[in-house]
Amino acid sequence: MKIAVLPGDGIGPEIVAQAVKVLTALKLDINMTEAPIGGAGYEAAGDPLPDATLKLAKDADAVLLGAVGDWKYDKLERHLRPERGLLRIRKELNLFANLRPALLYPELAAASTLKPEVVSGLDIMIVRELTGDIYFGQPRGISTLENGEREGINTMRYNESEIRRIGRVAFDIAMKRRVNGQKAKVCSVDKANVLETTELWRQVMIELSAEYPEVELSHMYVDNAAMQLIRAPKQFDVMVTGNIFGDILSDEASMLTGSIGMLPSASLDANNKGMYEPSHGSAPDIAGKDVANPLATILSVAMMLRYTFGDEANAQRVENAVKKALALGFRTADIWTEGTNKVGCAAMGDAVVAAL
Ligand code: IPM
Ligand code: MG
Repeated sequence: MKIAVLPGDGIGPEIVAQAVKVLTALKLDINMTEAPIGGAGYEAAGDPLPDATLKLAKDADAVLLGAVGDWKYDKLERHLRPERGLLRIRKELNLFANLRPALLYPELAAASTLKPEVVSGLDIMIVRELTGDIYFGQPRGISTLENGEREGINTMRYNESEIRRIGRVAFDIAMKRRVNGQKAKVCSVDKANVLETTELWRQVMIELSAEYPEVELSHMYVDNAAMQLIRAPKQFDVMVTGNIFGDILSDEASMLTGSIGMLPSASLDANNKGMYEPSHGSAPDIAGKDVANPLATILSVAMMLRYTFGDEANAQRVENAVKKALALGFRTADIWTEGTNKVGCAAMGDAVVAAL
C-alpha cells in the first residue's frame, strides 16, 4: 500500500506526524512518501500543487493530508494561493464524495457548547459533493463593467450525473449504517425554493430513491437545516448536499461534537481511492506550539483503513484507541474541561499509540 503524505501548512505537519506515528504502530505493509502542498508547495516549487506532488498522489493508493493555508499567502495571486492546491488535487483525483462524520464521544459531551442531552448519542454522516457546484462552475472571475464598476461572478451548476453519483454514495452509506432493521434515513439539503440548480438536485434525489426502498428520503432547505442542526441534531442520520452547503453545514456540525479538532474526513473517487484529512483548517495562530488536536487526523487514518483498504478491523482498532485515550482523561486544549489531563499534540499522539 502506497500512501502519499502531504502535511501542508500551519498545524498540518504536527498533526500529520501524529497520524503517521499511529499508522506506523499498526505495523502494516505501508510505504509512505511525503510531499509539499499549499503554501509549502508554493515555497518549494512556486505552485500550491507542485507537479511532483500531484504525480505522487496519483500513483498512491491513498493520500493523507494535513491542512493548507496561512494568512501570509493571502496577497498572492488567486491561482497561487494554498486553497487552490487543495481544490485542484480534489478535482484532479476526481474525489467527488466527501464524507464528514459528526460523532459525539460521550466523554466530550461537556465540551460541546450545546446541552449534553441535545448532543449525547449524536452520530451524523454528512456526504458533501466535492468537485462541482459554485466552487468550480464557469463562468467565474472579477471583471470591470462598462460603467467602470467591478463585478464578481461565480456560477452554481450541477449536471444530473454529478448529482446521481453523490446521491448513490449517500444512499449506499445509509444502507450500511442501518442497525437492527431500522429504516435508514437520508436527508437531502438544497435551496430548491430559490435555486434551479438545487431544484434539479431534489428531482434527481427523488428519482434515485426509487432504487432504495429501504431508505427514507427527506428534503430540507439549507437555512432550515442549519437551524435544525442546532435545535435537534439527533433527527439526522445521513445528510447529502452540494459542495458549498456541505462546506458550511459540516463546520456547523463539528461544533456539536465539542470541537472541530475531532472531525475526520474522507474524499473518495468512484473506486474508493481517497484523500483523508481533518475537516478543520491549518490554524496558523497555533502552529508549531504543540497544542493542536491531532485526533481528527488520526481518525482520518481510521477512515483510510476502512474505505480505501477495506480493513475494518484496524479502522476500529484506531477508533477504539482514540476512545481509550479520551476515557483515560487525555485532552488537548480545545476539548479540555476541568478535571481532565491537558496534553499537547505529540503527547496526545503518544496516548493513542499507547492505547493501541
Ligand atoms: C474545507 C475547507 C476548504 C473548502 C477550503 C480550505 C478551500 O473549508 O475543506 O471544508 O472550502 O472546501
Ligand atoms: Mg470548510
